[in-house]
Amino acid sequence: MKHNIITSSITAIILITGTATTSNAVANEKKIEANDLVEMFEKLGGKYPGFRKAHAKGLCASGTFMPAPNKHFSGAALLSNGELPVSMRFSLGGTNPNSDEKSPGTRGMGMQIKLPNGALHTFTGNNFPVFAGKDPETFYGFLSTLLPDENGKPDPAKTVAFIQQNPSVQANVMWNKTAKTAASFANTAFFGLHTFYFDHPNGQKTKFRWNIQPNLGVKTLEKAEAAKMPNEFLADTFAQQLKDETVRFTIMASLGEAEDSVIDPSQQWPSERPQVILGTVTVNASGGDACKNINFDPNMMSAGFTPSADPVLKMRSPAYAISFGKRLSGQ
Ligand code: HEM
Repeated sequence: MKHNIITSSITAIILITGTATTSNAVANEKKIEANDLVEMFEKLGGKYPGFRKAHAKGLCASGTFMPAPNKHFSGAALLSNGELPVSMRFSLGGTNPNSDEKSPGTRGMGMQIKLPNGALHTFTGNNFPVFAGKDPETFYGFLSTLLPDENGKPDPAKTVAFIQQNPSVQANVMWNKTAKTAASFANTAFFGLHTFYFDHPNGQKTKFRWNIQPNLGVKTLEKAEAAKMPNEFLADTFAQQLKDETVRFTIMASLGEAEDSVIDPSQQWPSERPQVILGTVTVNASGGDACKNINFDPNMMSAGFTPSADPVLKMRSPAYAISFGKRLSGQ
């Protein structure tokens, strides 16, 4: 989860030169709970009762999943039941349900595949390939540097110091530095970032990270092109693409080696890791509010799939549950 404010602040940070002076050691030491993060998101992006506490602006969609069974996931119910229905939600990062779609930065996708026995398999990913921090404490510490200080403005020197002292946020900061505006949700790749397992009935484990690739290719807008767009264009662009062409995503799994990090989403796996296809999702419709009351908790998976001990992944379930409860009760 990231906020648009982060993107703009990072852009500012990157322009800053000079020596950092402030230490964030205190923020970094405190044990962070899910509610701390939810409150931090609201402090940074604003409070919007009744909306998701992250990725508040979104577009519902639906379609079908066609599995591509392979030996690394043999016996998985997800891949053994033929075509399955899919509920999706594409989104922009941040708490603001009216955020500007011209801005570069975080785009997200939540997908829930429904199995014949009612089980749900969730894939919830973002358009960046690496997370801002090795654990919730680092992520929180980083976000806290973006809060306004006593002068009412964020102090970029604090953020620069934090980035220097916390290498695990650096790859994500670099991504943000060059991030461009997504041309369409149908032209965006999404990354699961965490490590997951598939447990074979014979006791073997497949260690993997997933990513989702659009059949229409990844397309972004240059700054000048984005500036010409209206504040909202993603829903219309997507609907038009559905009319004119086939909108499809391929779900890929990168297969990890023993040395690839299991618990750290700020460490990317080498790009040469073998990738296998889990299946394809064909989108049939968009719009409406069928996804409004879905909690796209990435730890909710079908039989045989298990989450790793990645502390960021573990933090997501309670954070999503808090947000879900709050928004359903109008908070
Ligand atoms: C500690 C880290 C994280 C926290 C605390 C967090 C928190 C949240 C919260 C509170 C929501 C709103 C949930 C709801 O109301 O249904 C959310 C949504 C979302 N998050 Fe995260 N998140 C984290 C990490 C991530 C990561 C690593 C990714 C990408 C891999 C991600 C992708 C998304 C997406 C795509 C949504 C929107 C889902 C939807 O449309 O309902 N988040 N996050």
